[in-house]
Amino acid sequence: MSNRTLAILKPDCVKKNLIGKVITQIQDAGFTVLGMKMVKLTEDSAKGFYEVHEARPFFKDLIVYMTSGPCVPIALEKENAVEDFRKLIGATDPAKAAEGTIRKLYAASIQENIVHGSDSDENASKEISHFFSSKELLEINGWK
Ligand code: CMP
Repeated sequence: MSNRTLAILKPDCVKKNLIGKVITQIQDAGFTVLGMKMVKLTEDSAKGFYEVHEARPFFKDLIVYMTSGPCVPIALEKENAVEDFRKLIGATDPAKAAEGTIRKLYAASIQENIVHGSDSDENASKEISHFFSSKELLEINGWK
């Protein structure tokens, strides 16, 4: 089991001025920030990141949305990171998300859903590499 996952605070999170609140909730849940940056995704980068969804009907709109403004990719570490982070953010569709989850609290729709979380250890590793080189990530054992 890996202990890392990739979060993206999406353009709606940044536009609604919720970066601080969402990061607080993530840290209060026991995740350590290993790397974080604010970036405006290019079309190519967004298409590459969401390649698995290429054939889905929402793909085009997803790329428009994800390139509509800056977002904040964050590499996170915690035991059981992928599963625990998905529990913290709630279902993709905020209408189906559990009470208290980040999407239930802040998301407007299935598309504008505030935050992304990796769905498997394999994808977490790929997704972290999409945004961070290994040198950019905190070496947690070196300082804790
Ligand atoms: P995310 O967890 O980042 O993974 C794919 C994204 O596509 C999803 O969050 C939403 O932002 C977006 N999306 C839009 N429509 C749908 C849909 N019907 N099902 C799943 N994801 C969708």
